[in-house]
Amino acid sequence: MRELGRPALAKTSSRRPAASAHVLQRPAYRQAMASADWAEAMARELLEEALPRRWAHTQGVAATARTLSGILGDDTDLIVAAAWLHGIGYSPAIAVTGFHPLDGARHLRDMEQASALLCCLVAHHSCAMNEAAERGLAGELAREFPPPPDDLADALTYGDMTTGPDGQDMIVEQRVGEILARYGPDHLVSRAIIPPVL
Ligand SMILES: [Fe+2]
Repeated sequence: MRELGRPALAKTSSRRPAASAHVLQRPAYRQAMASADWAEAMARELLEEALPRRWAHTQGVAATARTLSGILGDDTDLIVAAAWLHGIGYSPAIAVTGFHPLDGARHLRDMEQASALLCCLVAHHSCAMNEAAERGLAGELAREFPPPPDDLADALTYGDMTTGPDGQDMIVEQRVGEILARYGPDHLVSRAIIPPVL
């Protein structure tokens, strides 16, 4: 089983205060729950009311990730947790740069002391490095979060890229088409999504 819960105790952000009762209480809370359950609760808190459509999508990605349990084995809990958390960076409560993979991963690292592997999965989900390059954030992403193992990254990408914006199942071609239509062909998200998928 891969590393799930080693707290990144030394990694506190210069952007956010690290010393708070909130930070101290989280590890005990997390240890009492499976990672996926903890992740679901956090995603619900950050997305359900503020961004209901993102929340619907998130629920679909987590459901798809669970269907991979026969392949993932002991990594199922980790990938389902990452599926719940991959879009939390959209939440107005934690968004800083506007690049949701980086904002979500930084929040998990700095405020939740999540495992390094879980943070890296969120940081790099669905070939996020392509969009990071478009945004001029590739260096920051690479320095702070090394890429996760390909098989785990692929599992998360599969869930994200076969789930529509309302949580519905989609084949990859439909999903890419939906993203291109939603953002428009010239948007940096569209430019970032085309090379790795098509
Ligand atoms: Fe997503």
